[in-house]
Amino acid sequence: MPAHVAIIMDGNGRWAQHRGLERQAGHREGARRVRDIAAACIDYGVRVLTIYAFSTENWDRPADEVSFLMDLIPERLEAERSMIFEQRVRIRVLGEIETLPLIDRVAVRDIVRQTAHHDALDLNIAFNYGGRAEIVRALRNLIRDGIRPEDVTEDLVSRAMYTAGQPDPDLLIRTGGDQRSSNFLVWQSTYSEYFFSPILWPDFTRDAFEDALADFSSRTRRFGRVPVAAPAAASDA
Ligand code: IPE
Ligand code: IPE
Ligand code: MG
Repeated sequence: MPAHVAIIMDGNGRWAQHRGLERQAGHREGARRVRDIAAACIDYGVRVLTIYAFSTENWDRPADEVSFLMDLIPERLEAERSMIFEQRVRIRVLGEIETLPLIDRVAVRDIVRQTAHHDALDLNIAFNYGGRAEIVRALRNLIRDGIRPEDVTEDLVSRAMYTAGQPDPDLLIRTGGDQRSSNFLVWQSTYSEYFFSPILWPDFTRDAFEDALADFSSRTRRFGRVPVAAPAAASDA
């Protein structure tokens, strides 16, 4: 089982358009899937789930869609509050939340603080997140802390990321048919196994997620090494 699964939840807009609905309807339906996938993670012992909810590039969408997406996160967190507390889900936000409207910012900060001791699943919400922006932020923080160049290590940079203390994603799923990273977890995904699904995110059920987990379990990860040879058959010489 992967310890950390990351998901690029793509295809909401097309899901809605196929039904003759506004794109927003796809975002609303897509946001509901997170609950099922988080529950599956808990059942399978996945410790960290990172979901890509809004990228630094998504600001370039129409203003009404952006403001809808801004409201969606605090709204879903509120709607799933009892699940989050009963299932002991720890919420973390990856991304710049200072730009959220004050009331939402406070609501998000509250739930992060109130769930900090939960231990069943870390749910990382990548919101106003960009992988390159995250690296720039980390470097700025290291420089601000007066770290000397010779003391900069990969481990230190990892600890300056939003995901500090968490394992890198083992499995990175993108739904919606496209096969690109779109600036997601640039630093952390170097050895992630990619799983691309044609399914549009609002249709991505627990079954589809289980298929991705099964596919992951059939892969051989080498991390640059030579594959481990099967034990040699006992020779009769
Ligand atoms: C992903 O769905 C959700 C966000 C980017 C917020 P899209 O809105 O990108 O859906 P498509 O790709 O247009 O279908
Ligand atoms: C990636 O999807 C971002 C999120 C899922 C939040 P996009 O739909 O924004 O990605 P591109 O534009 O197709 O690369
Ligand atoms: Mg998209």
